[in-house]
Amino acid sequence: MGWPLFGLARARGSLLATLVAMLGLGLSPPASAQGQAGSAAKGQAIFESRCGACHSLDTHRVGPALGSVLGRAAGKALGFGYSQALGAARHVWDRDKLLAWLTDPESVVPGQAMGYRLEQAEDRRDVVAYLASLAKR
Ligand code: HEC
Repeated sequence: MGWPLFGLARARGSLLATLVAMLGLGLSPPASAQGQAGSAAKGQAIFESRCGACHSLDTHRVGPALGSVLGRAAGKALGFGYSQALGAARHVWDRDKLLAWLTDPESVVPGQAMGYRLEQAEDRRDVVAYLASLAKR
């Protein structure tokens, strides 16, 4: 009985992988002028209107300052009172981690305290492009 069940589980696994791959394709943008990197200019506008209630670039507010977040260790900005979960995180913020965080913070750090996400993949790419442009200054 073990083998057929195992086979079924494997078939399910590959079906899931296929679905995920299809979803990924569906979410990726058409080959537009903007490309995968996103637009820092648009990202700045989105940051100001959608993150600005809680974050600024160089002051801690409801959320930590984000001007130098790219390349920074997660949950470690001095002087900000993080949730226990984010304070204990062990990753560094790179583009992929930021994209994942903005998609669903809870999936990156379970128990974190940021109750906000960006639904649109394009918005997420633009905001991360903006944060990356600050890191290069
Ligand atoms: C409603 C308030 C709120 C909004 C809106 C918000 N955040 Fe946050 N953000 C927080 C809080 C609070 C934390 C700290 C979470 C914790 O300690 O678990 C946080 C943490 C973060 C972190 C982790 C930083 C670090 O030092 O590890 C990033 C990155 C981040 N936010 C990006 C964004 C971006 C980009 C936006 C806009 C798209 C945004 N946030 C919108 C409240 C917010």
